[in-house]
Amino acid sequence: MCGITGYTGPKQASRILVDGLKRLEYRGYDSAGIAVQTDPADQRANALTVIKRVGKIASLRQAVPKDLSGHCGIGHTRWATHGEVNEVNAHPHADGSNRIAIVHNGIIENYLSLKGMLEHEGMVFASQTDSEVIAHLVAYHYDGDLEAALKAALKHLKGTFGIGCVCSQEPGRIVGARNGSPLVVGVGDGEMFLASDVNAMLAHTKRVVYLNDGEVVSLWPHDFRISDGDDQSVDPKIDHVTWELDAIEKEGFGCYMEKEIFEQPDSIERALKGRMDSEYGLAKLGGLNLSKKELHAMQRVRVIAAGTSWHAGLVGCHLVESIARLPALAELASELRYRNPVVEPGTLYLSVSQSGETADTLYAMREVQRRGGTVLGICNVVGSTIARESDGGIYVHSGPEIAVASTKAFTSQLAAFYLLTLSLARMHDMSHHDGSLFLSQLKAIPGLVKRALEQRDLIQALAKKYCHCSDFLFLGRGLLYPIALEGALKLKEISYIHAEGYAAGEIKHGPIALVSPQTPSVFLVPNDHLREKTITNLKEIKARGGPVIAIASEKDLEVAAIADDFIPVPDCDSRFQPFTMIVPLQLFAYFCALELGRDVDQPRNLAKSVTVE
Ligand code: F6R
Repeated sequence: MCGITGYTGPKQASRILVDGLKRLEYRGYDSAGIAVQTDPADQRANALTVIKRVGKIASLRQAVPKDLSGHCGIGHTRWATHGEVNEVNAHPHADGSNRIAIVHNGIIENYLSLKGMLEHEGMVFASQTDSEVIAHLVAYHYDGDLEAALKAALKHLKGTFGIGCVCSQEPGRIVGARNGSPLVVGVGDGEMFLASDVNAMLAHTKRVVYLNDGEVVSLWPHDFRISDGDDQSVDPKIDHVTWELDAIEKEGFGCYMEKEIFEQPDSIERALKGRMDSEYGLAKLGGLNLSKKELHAMQRVRVIAAGTSWHAGLVGCHLVESIARLPALAELASELRYRNPVVEPGTLYLSVSQSGETADTLYAMREVQRRGGTVLGICNVVGSTIARESDGGIYVHSGPEIAVASTKAFTSQLAAFYLLTLSLARMHDMSHHDGSLFLSQLKAIPGLVKRALEQRDLIQALAKKYCHCSDFLFLGRGLLYPIALEGALKLKEISYIHAEGYAAGEIKHGPIALVSPQTPSVFLVPNDHLREKTITNLKEIKARGGPVIAIASEKDLEVAAIADDFIPVPDCDSRFQPFTMIVPLQLFAYFCALELGRDVDQPRNLAKSVTVE
């Protein structure tokens, strides 16, 4: 949510900043801007050149003069929180004398009182944003040392921030600060980078330093210095990013979401790789940081997550409870944090997050840790805040997920839950034989997902047929209920069609009133003891004139015959059907959005990595 870039080095900063912003565009895309320390030789002045535009990075790129000469600067792509979307509210924000410019990700909660104080001192504000107070505060404290001025300003701020800051009087220097919003330093050869995430700098360096909350960094082309909240210098830990640049390219696909959907056989394989011990029917999860005894002592599981990750958590809890026989519940992070939760000993908390930066999940997890709870992270982004602050965890290794709608991270999170379930189950009731069988079925998943993707053309045709309906129901039972929720979320977020996910057994308690010939129901029919019950629910809809699209095993000829439209998926043990069933729903949402001309990768009002509450 909002993306920050910074560059200092021998190259022209504007191009690097704008290219970096393009890589971060998924974090916010309502407006963007850069501030460059203009070279003395440049006609435009020996000061800061600030250029901002409403809309996507493409419009900013057009506005930046090709000959803008300057070797140090900062950039920002915005997801509006305070103040409408316009050029004035776009970042960077400068002080009145255009000496200091800042970019900010996060929320300054006490900005109104600070603004009042600064106005009283004679400062004039241009925008409606909370962020502009930072520029004026830094200018107010500036006395020849930008880092000292920023540190003095930080003392007044309440809220969350990732900040990048430059001053016209200190050529080549960028200062950054972090509290609750991610910030990464990229260490190059005679050049340095600052960004909200590593994607922005992957084309230039893979050597990165993740800043911690409370840290401030000064960057120059050949050096950087980090200090903590007590003003003590910090020894930087340089990490090496393993993601390749290819992974953040579209590689011939029309958009990232399509690429990421079709990548799932590989990404699930990566999540499982090296973690299956077939000889003993066990999962090998090296990063849990819990001894066998400690894991065995866990009596219950709680998942903390948001959105799609919460849906993965619902599936995970169903598995843990039904297979490992431990009570398990998935809770929305935004609810848990504020309801004064009881954290019982013997509870294993799992903080599930693709980005590892979701504010709701992070704060809920910290609340649990404060109460003595053990929290493991199930994250995709290596080095992300949740991954670093959790007591141990499982990286899902789906690779960078760029499309705002999460797809491959979801199935990789599922894979992690299957492995964890196996670990817990084998400590309790599951036999060696059943463990080996479970693993052999899990191993087959990438191949089954590949086959599920083969229904692409059929699903595209169905999307054409149904995409003009304004309401949909997605219905499933048991393990497929969270998949119904996820299918509905995918459709609404990228096509803007209203969709409700419901437990199929619940529809007769109210939602069945919505059924009409204009409201299709998408049924997920399992191949286990819930099949008959689900078919009964399906018939209840048919009897009321509602069109039914059914997704079921390719062998289920009965369901194929009753439904108006049928999407077959490869047959497998019902415990693994969440993998095969989610694929057609992702494709359906994707093709509906495409058919309706939506911006699939960057749907309206959304942003990836929600770092505000
Ligand atoms: C939906 C989607 C969101 C995220 C949610 C949590 O497609 O992407 O619902 O799942 O914002 O994000 P993470 O997993 O990064 O914590």
